[in-house]
Amino acid sequence: MKPTLSPAPTVRSYLDEGAGSSLANDVLDGLTRPFKELPPKHFYDAVGADLFDRICEQPEYYPTRAEREILQLRSGDIARITGAAELVELGSGTAAKTRVLLDALRDAGTLRRYVPFDVTEGMVRDVAAALLDEYPGLEVEGIVGDFERHLQHVPPSVPGRPRIVAFLGGTIGNFIPGSRREFLASLGELLSDGDHLLLGTDLVKDPAVLEAAYDDAAGVTAAFNRNVLHVLNRELDADFEPDAFDHFAFFDREHEWIEMRLRAQRRMVVPIRGLGMEVAFEAREEVRTEISAKFTPERLEADLAASGLELVEILTDPQQRFALSLSRRA
Ligand code: SAH
Ligand code: AVI
Repeated sequence: MKPTLSPAPTVRSYLDEGAGSSLANDVLDGLTRPFKELPPKHFYDAVGADLFDRICEQPEYYPTRAEREILQLRSGDIARITGAAELVELGSGTAAKTRVLLDALRDAGTLRRYVPFDVTEGMVRDVAAALLDEYPGLEVEGIVGDFERHLQHVPPSVPGRPRIVAFLGGTIGNFIPGSRREFLASLGELLSDGDHLLLGTDLVKDPAVLEAAYDDAAGVTAAFNRNVLHVLNRELDADFEPDAFDHFAFFDREHEWIEMRLRAQRRMVVPIRGLGMEVAFEAREEVRTEISAKFTPERLEADLAASGLELVEILTDPQQRFALSLSRRA
């Protein structure tokens, strides 16, 4: 008997479009300021994506387990409330938890199309191919792009095919507050009547629990943090010594967010040949590499409302560590 071949998935890449506003600009802009900063999207080359997966397995990093628990307990309800035929997922990564939701939509008999969207090309391609195999008959349209610049390439919603736009993992927390609301509003534009946004947000809790989640004992988060310097070395012909920077993470109680930083162990001057520049660091000078905002239900609802979205339901795990919310255009 001949083996059945799955059809090839459609995967489109938009990463070259507007490339000028990406890594080079972010580095030029972020490392020439008095308080140095790099945006977190540059963590995720193939090595960084792999390190992120390993973070999710660390005992201290609870968000992935908590969100999976919610999906396992409530995906049937999400399928019933949304009747979704289509799932568009931003920052889809390996789509590990997504399968729980896809199973529920398939079991409800409504699932037709999955659209994974991520900045890491290999992951979109692997996920698209794997899901075609795992869900016979599913249409898969992968998008490789930057969700801050290429959302317009998400295929339009099809009348009569309710859609879920999912943004899981708490990645919305990695935006700074002003751009967070702007981004939520742009997600709202992907929704028509009858469509829902499914948003994962980590919740405010004991700072010791939060700080441990971003500084695991095995040092995986530290390696993930330093990986951004390897990315700069490779992509911009820079000479960072990643091991000369210490990882550290703390909960900022005023802003209710975790900050990850890299701290120079000594004074150094680093050439970035691709940009024709050098960057000087004082001993103990820090670079902010990520914020990860933690939410209260009130803040979540306020952010959604300010972005033109109306909360339909908040679901939390039994230990109330993490929230998944369903909302729609107000
Ligand atoms: N949704 C998964 C992965 C979260 S990690 C989960 O919940 O476990 C964040 C994901 O977002 C990574 O896969 C990363 O590559 C992607 N990502 C980060 N910034 C991005 C951007 N600007 N555009 C598109 N994808 C981005
Ligand atoms: C992708 N994002 C939600 C993760 C977070 O928790 O903010 C990224 C991460 N950074 C360190 N650990 C995990």
